[in-house]
Amino acid sequence: MISFRRAFLATSLVSQVAAFATPTFTRAVSSSAISMADFDETRGGTYSIADQVARFDKAKADNNERFLDITTVYDGGDLSGKRVLVTGGNRGLGFEITKELVSLGATALVLCRSSSKELSRLIGKYNVYDGVDVTDTEAVNKAMKKVKSDGGDIDMIINNAGYFYEPCEKILDDSLNFEEELKQINICGLGPLRVNAAAVNSGALAESAKLVIITSQAGSCEWRSTQNKDEGGDYGHHMSRAACNMAGVLQAEELRSKGYSVILLHPGFNRTDMTAKYKEIWDKEGAVEPATGAKRVLYEAIKSNMETTGQFINCEDGKKIPW
Ligand SMILES: NC(=O)c1ccc[n+]([C@@H]2O[C@H](COP(=O)([O-])OP(=O)(O)OC[C@H]3O[C@@H](n4cnc5c(N)ncnc54)[C@H](OP(=O)(O)O)[C@@H]3O)[C@@H](O)[C@H]2O)c1
Repeated sequence: MISFRRAFLATSLVSQVAAFATPTFTRAVSSSAISMADFDETRGGTYSIADQVARFDKAKADNNERFLDITTVYDGGDLSGKRVLVTGGNRGLGFEITKELVSLGATALVLCRSSSKELSRLIGKYNVYDGVDVTDTEAVNKAMKKVKSDGGDIDMIINNAGYFYEPCEKILDDSLNFEEELKQINICGLGPLRVNAAAVNSGALAESAKLVIITSQAGSCEWRSTQNKDEGGDYGHHMSRAACNMAGVLQAEELRSKGYSVILLHPGFNRTDMTAKYKEIWDKEGAVEPATGAKRVLYEAIKSNMETTGQFINCEDGKKIPW
């Protein structure tokens, strides 16, 4: 099972144990050349660990409450009374985020392709903007104008809609699927850019609005040599998240002058439809119920601000992920 989309998964523990050693960048180095053996991937503990199994095992060994039980730090912050728009809030992690927003007393607005009775009951049918595919610029722009004309400004947008093509794409078994690659780039890379741009240009955002983009650790180029070591694969999905991250940092730069912050969040490993095919490794890899994943995402989303704008954060441990 080790050929699984390693962005979600385990790699060799052996190569990662060294990552827990004392930060080597704090040592005096006589030469500017730092060998790989000296490289501390955690940069003195400020960055997360690439190997998912090692990361989870370390959290357990350290009894890291922030990692193992988000409720020890999460209190929902100041979202009560705020208007928060969630894309893909009809199922999976997005639905759990929406439920959590309602329980906090926020007004949740959902942008989705298709609604359900459960969703309408939860937030009221007027707060569901359905028939909106995030690859459809016109539909997104129209929906955002309607959100604006329907009510108050949006305090936070959580770009959650995403897609991961099922088969693992490889060059060597001739399974590349360029159509699917473009589809993933369109949904995961361009989708959040479309939504955020529509919100800015329709004047739907409140002052100091927070733009949250749920991305994936799969978008980290640095982590590919651990998570896809000697295998590569999953070209479309991982490229789509790297594109998403690039769009996020560019938005952070462009929108700083407007006072809108942008944060890129890896939501952790969640037990949803997207990962159901990896059920057998859920326990080993520390996959959580999406209700827990929702709190992890909201905890980091609430903390985000103009100081953190443009950062790429792992919601499991609150640490940075390298580009
Ligand atoms: N689960 C994890 O462990 C994990 C890890 C890393 C990152 N993520 C990211 O977290 C987010 C939520 O994941 P999940 O596990 O909840 O996935 P999921 O269960 O597969 O749900 C995906 C959501 O995205 C929506 N969506 C897909 N394509 C869309 C499109 N073209 N336009 C509008 N909406 C679209 C889906 O709507 P429909 O019902 O219309 O299909 C659904 O609401 C995704 O962005 C995913 O990439 C998840």
